[in-house]
Formats: sequence, structure tokens, C-alpha cells
Amino acid sequence: MGFPERRMRRMRRTDTIRRMVRETRLSPDDFILPMFVAPGSGVRKPIGSMPGHFQLSVDEAVKDCGEVVGLGIPAVILFGIPERKDPLGTEAYSDKAPVQRAVRALKKTFGDSLCVVTDVCMCEYTDHGHCGVVEKGEVLNDETLELLAKEAVSHARAGADIVAPSDMMDGRIGFIRDELDEAGFDHVAIMAYAAKFASGFYGPFREAAESAPKFGDRRAYQMDPPNAREALMEMLLDEEEGADILMVKPAGPYLDILRAARDEFDLPLAAYQVSGEFATIKAAAERGWIDHDRVMMESLVGIRRAGADMILTYFAKEAARLLGKG
Ligand code: PBG
Repeated sequence: MGFPERRMRRMRRTDTIRRMVRETRLSPDDFILPMFVAPGSGVRKPIGSMPGHFQLSVDEAVKDCGEVVGLGIPAVILFGIPERKDPLGTEAYSDKAPVQRAVRALKKTFGDSLCVVTDVCMCEYTDHGHCGVVEKGEVLNDETLELLAKEAVSHARAGADIVAPSDMMDGRIGFIRDELDEAGFDHVAIMAYAAKFASGFYGPFREAAESAPKFGDRRAYQMDPPNAREALMEMLLDEEEGADILMVKPAGPYLDILRAARDEFDLPLAAYQVSGEFATIKAAAERGWIDHDRVMMESLVGIRRAGADMILTYFAKEAARLLGKG
């Protein structure tokens, strides 16, 4: 049957009908809000390239999470700004560092009504800004695993529900899983940044987390953007090593990877709409070139439609607020 019997526009005629045939829906349940925790108290330092986002001290982060829970957002992911950086990123695995203190405060305040995820990586904590141990200008893989596992166990000890390694070292999921189990944290889940690409879209984050590499770039460990089959292999390995959730990052420019992953794997699938995706929408909207709310929601629904179960997004609060208004 074709035109004029088949008229596709009938099902688009009114908003009510469009609601009935909608294939993909967004809910605050879909979102995970990234947050940056800093030392001190009463600190709320705006991040220039990420309007509405701040480096927060633990007390301020707790306040913001009250709003997060109130909006129906189930989870936050924490990044840390340490007091001091050094070659081995020792504050990454200090029980007194901002992330560990924030996890304890959040779990104490919100219990199981807030799922606390922690980013496990060295780049915020090393003075050279790379995601692992550096020797002669190279990031060493196996030596880095030890530090990542120490960091993950320290987060688990503080009470993290999920640890999320974002370093892209080989074998880290299995290594961290073993160390967590050994330390008595077999209930702590691992969200693997499984297919993480070496992306220009991380620019604003590196300002927010003060984690830009001091020499070179991350192309020798993060993935080359043109590669899709390799992304599936990364995800397969992380599944085999025991990941509980697989992530694709960034999200918007990699929707094909998300779709392929959804078709290939049955594990929950996360997508990270990264800082540069957020900032480009914010900047164009500020200039009046696009409609902020409309483009925000379209970018999020596209990520869900491609196959993501959950989205790490700096829009989490704004989008949840809009969804709440129905
Ligand atoms: C740490 C990490 C990065 C992001 C998340 N975890 C930065 C990077 O790899 O350089 C980027 C997140 C964003 O841009 O929003 N390795």
C-alpha cells in the first residue's frame, strides 16, 4: 500500500497522537550528572566553558545532590580536583581526598536514594596530566593498573556504588574486579568507559578538572575516532573481564557505535555526552543561533534512540526539570 492510501502524516497531526506513537521517551531515570569536587568548604567556583557547572567543595556538592534527588535523577558521577598533584597521582587513592570525602558525605546523607559513581583515572591527580604512570614520555600500562585498582578500592571503601575506570589501559577491568573482590567489595559494580575515543570534545572538561596533559596527547591509549570494529572489540574485552555496564564516549558523534553495541551486547549501555557536546550547544544557544531546550532534548533523545540505557550528561538537571513540567 502506498500513497494516497498510506498517509504517514495522519499519525503526526496532533500533539496527543504524536505522544501515542512516540517510540523513545526520556525520563530523569536515564540521567547521570557529572560533578567536580574540590578541597575546602563553601567553594562554588564556576567553570567558564561549562555554564551552570562548578568546582564544588563537599558541603556544596551535598547541597546540589539534594536537588538532584528531588528531580528524580538516580545517580551522579564524581571527578576530583586534588590539593596537590605528583607523578604518581597519590591523592587519587587517598582516603581523605575530595572524592572519597564526598562519597562518604553523600552516602551518609542520601543512602540508597542516590547512586554514587566515581570516575577512576589518574589524569586529574598526576602533575603531567596523563592517565597513568609515565616513563620516558610513555604511559606504562601494567604499572598503571596497580594505581587504578588502589583508587577503585579507596572509592569502594568510602561507599561508592559503582566505579567507572576511564583511563583506557588494557586489562584494567579484570584487574580492578579482582582487587575489589579481594578487598571485600564484590557488591561494587564497574561501569567501563569501554569505547572511549581520543576526542577534541573533552576540551571544557580539562579546564573543569584541570587535567590537560602537559606534553603530547592521549592518542596512544584512547581510541582513534574512525574505528568502529575496534570499539566493539574493546567492549567485548571489558564484558569478558567482568564489566557490569559498558560505555561509549563521546555520545553524539558516535551514535553508530552505540547502535552497534546495543545490537551486540546485552549488558546495560551508557553513553557520555561530554563537555564539548554540552558547551557547543550552550554557546550556539547563547548566540541565539539555536533553541536551547529543543536542541538539548533532541540531542538526548537521539542518544537514547541509538540504544543507550543511560546518559551521563551535564544537562541532567535542566532536562529533568523540563521533563517534570510535562
Ligand atoms: C578522565 C576523563 C576525561 C573525561 C572523563 N573522564 C577526560 C579525558 O579523557 O581527557 C571527559 C569528560 C568530558 O569531556 O565531559 N580520563
